Amino acid sequence: MRKKSTLSSLLIGLCFLSLCAHAESKSADAEGHEWWQHAVFYEIYPRSFADSNNDGIGDLKGITSKLDYLKELGVDAIWLTPCYPSPQVDFGYDVSDYVNIDPMYGTLADFDDMASAGKQRGIRIIMDLVMNHSSDQHKWFLDSRSSRTSAYRDWYVWRDGKVPNQPPNNWISIFGGPAWTFDPQTGQWYYRIFYSAQPDLNWRNPKVEKAMFDVTRWWYQRGVSGFRLDAVDTLFEDPKLTDNPVLPGISKYGDPNMESKYNTKLPELHGVLQRLRKVADENGAVLIGETWTRNIDELKLYYGGHGKELQMPMDLMFTTVNKLSAPEFRRQIAAADGAGGWPVYVISNHDIVRSYNRYGDGERNDAIAKLMAGMYLTLRGTPIMYYGEELGMENNDPKRKEDVKDPIGKLGWPEEKGRDGERTPMQWDSSANAGFSQSTPWLPVPPSFKTHNVEAELKDPDSVLQFYKHLLALRHENSSLREGRYIALNEDQPDVLSYLRRYKDQAVLVVLNMSGREQKVSFDLSKQGFSSGKIATLLTTLAAHPGEVPPSGLTLGPFAVYIAQISK
Ligand code: GLC
Ligand code: CA
Repeated sequence: MRKKSTLSSLLIGLCFLSLCAHAESKSADAEGHEWWQHAVFYEIYPRSFADSNNDGIGDLKGITSKLDYLKELGVDAIWLTPCYPSPQVDFGYDVSDYVNIDPMYGTLADFDDMASAGKQRGIRIIMDLVMNHSSDQHKWFLDSRSSRTSAYRDWYVWRDGKVPNQPPNNWISIFGGPAWTFDPQTGQWYYRIFYSAQPDLNWRNPKVEKAMFDVTRWWYQRGVSGFRLDAVDTLFEDPKLTDNPVLPGISKYGDPNMESKYNTKLPELHGVLQRLRKVADENGAVLIGETWTRNIDELKLYYGGHGKELQMPMDLMFTTVNKLSAPEFRRQIAAADGAGGWPVYVISNHDIVRSYNRYGDGERNDAIAKLMAGMYLTLRGTPIMYYGEELGMENNDPKRKEDVKDPIGKLGWPEEKGRDGERTPMQWDSSANAGFSQSTPWLPVPPSFKTHNVEAELKDPDSVLQFYKHLLALRHENSSLREGRYIALNEDQPDVLSYLRRYKDQAVLVVLNMSGREQKVSFDLSKQGFSSGKIATLLTTLAAHPGEVPPSGLTLGPFAVYIAQISK
């Protein structure tokens, strides 16, 4: 058994090396791993990170001023959600100019300052590429809607109604209502799977592909190290506009439920992503996908055969595990780890309720925040953190409909409160507005900012932030955590998730108590050849730090994390 896997990994390694020999980037390490495989990524929502000019909205100068904080935390790359010029209908995901910075965030000169300050500190910048749609205020769309014969007409998806006053088919917007908007000026409907202000680009038009690929080249020349690709599942639609199959029930927006068979995940999108990857390879860049897959086979498609598509499709299925469950995480990790690519782990982002709320039990949330960190920062793969996760920041959902900023929250209230709650300002200190801004921020901070903020947590050795710092330091310096294989242990345990990260004749043991009860565990590592091995604690939340695991086992308090080095 072991021989076979060693042989096959050797073969895979050889293939990988020969592939790398052809690639532009020569940064791979002895294991063939590239920079992005060792990097810790950190998502910044620019409106909410740091406000340098006190207008209540975060900006690029604010981000630059916090790069030292990120460096000390252990962050290697920041992904900025869109900061391009935008009418802000979807808070930047409606782009009206792909090669500029919105004045509310600063200027291109501010961007260059941020990029060079990042470079000095070894922090790379990843931009967000909103490929599926532009703003309805983009000059391409303004021209497109001006007449049926305009030069840009075919850059978007225009169709006649089925019958007068009826959209061309039954497709539904992800944000509620029909996916078509009627434009009286030219008497046709345009397709938009998100808001009306976000018309879908027509990816069957080669000019669209060329323009968007040139956007990436433009940013690569400005020093960007890659892109997070927005909403890639939705790039193509069935040209015949076949109606989607209707499913039983009604959505939270009051629409009939539907299987989005003919307007998401069409095979054509993989061709686009593979060609975009070639452009990325010419620039030593990484592509991260917002890939909402339903199963591992769909995720595999995004890696592409021989790794020729996205280096980092996010495993967003991981974010759908909404309870602490060792068997469920074990299953998800095994699937992602076995998908044949480099896994990408995410536990929250600007569209998902914060992990602190999703996993917290209301009493021991800080312990649970450390537990989650102990898991996703020790797996084989690249983690993408969400700003404030390292503090135990919590959601601050609007209490009244009139306070909601995110349009889907207005439409879906009260069932869908929108995404404001997970987008609140970063909590820097315990002064007004958590030190984010001297004027009222665009979204209010939750009361817990008094205790959960950078300044306070830096002073407290037991804080969530200190745990993240120790863990990230360990992740960077420990070769088993960087390079090692993932090996599940004690797989029938219902409450404790345990695994090894094995590299050469060393390993790191990770033990995570996912329950609120004390648990006893013991390990038989003889199968891994560590029967008489030495065990030394690296990091733990246990009050008494055991120097080694006695043969009788380890006693873990509620939600405890135990991480140890094992050597022969
Ligand atoms: C992605 C973004 C989300 C945005 C949507 C439309 O899902 O993460 O915030 O609303 O795309 O662009
Ligand atoms: Ca500002």
